[in-house]
Amino acid sequence: MYKVTSEIYGETNYNSVKGDNGRVLSKFKFKYPQDENIVAQNGMLVDKDGDLTVQRKRGSTLDGVIAIEHSEATELRLVGLQVWRELGAGVGLTSIAAAFYTQQVVCTDVNVGGILDLIRENVKHNFKLLQNRNKIDVLELDFLKPVEEYAPDLLKAIDNCDIVVAADVIYDDDLTNAFIHVIDVLFERGRLSGKNKTVLIALEKRYVFTLSDLDTTAPMFEYFLKQTIHKPWLFEYIDTNSFPQYFEYDRSRHLVLLKVTYGK
Ligand SMILES: C[S@@+](CC[C@H](N)C(=O)[O-])C[C@H]1O[C@@H](n2cnc3c(N)ncnc32)[C@H](O)[C@@H]1O
Repeated sequence: MYKVTSEIYGETNYNSVKGDNGRVLSKFKFKYPQDENIVAQNGMLVDKDGDLTVQRKRGSTLDGVIAIEHSEATELRLVGLQVWRELGAGVGLTSIAAAFYTQQVVCTDVNVGGILDLIRENVKHNFKLLQNRNKIDVLELDFLKPVEEYAPDLLKAIDNCDIVVAADVIYDDDLTNAFIHVIDVLFERGRLSGKNKTVLIALEKRYVFTLSDLDTTAPMFEYFLKQTIHKPWLFEYIDTNSFPQYFEYDRSRHLVLLKVTYGK
């Protein structure tokens, strides 16, 4: 069977250790951003009132580690069991990082190959880092399902959220169409509930040479742009060099970070 492997494993040493279950446990090191009012306590950053805090500031010195269990290679259907270069929901890395910044995170994926249970395990691995607060809910969101089939707790989570992060989900045209429909649903519910959504989409442009174009193109991303051109959405490209890098990974120049809001 044809298998794919994330590019990132060969670029940085994540001190990966193979477990008996065939998966590996990798350590994603990061720098805590520093501020003179913030001090480290038991490996976590707290402000002078003792509240957990993370400040966005350049120049950081303290190290932290998020331990993530994942697969090394999978068939295409199960790519969510790996960690890709971008922000990642698949195995929970981004959700765990996001939990430093917000009271509540809802981490979603399609429930195939045990992904949701793996995310729950990864949240448990890093429970201490999150000050033992249970603020990451793991729910199924299958882009291919119509909204009428969404579970009530998923709908509630959608209505309550402000920011949606989606990473590397634009790699298959059918899935891209379904993902665009999900964004429509998010904006529609945001307008109805009065809680507007900001959608952050991260992806790596994967270039290929196509005979039809006789050129090197990033067809998946271009397909997404073509399908959304008439949507009443505002696109803002965020310069990926405009903010500090706290995790160790190769910040390829083909990374795209797109902020999408409703309205034109
Ligand atoms: C390339 S991986 C990216 C994973 C993760 N976001 C990252 O960047 O590490 C693509 C993700 O899309 C998810 N996916 C595939 N089909 C889906 C569907 N029908 N609904 C929702 N997510 C889906 C996969 O399970 C996987 O988590």
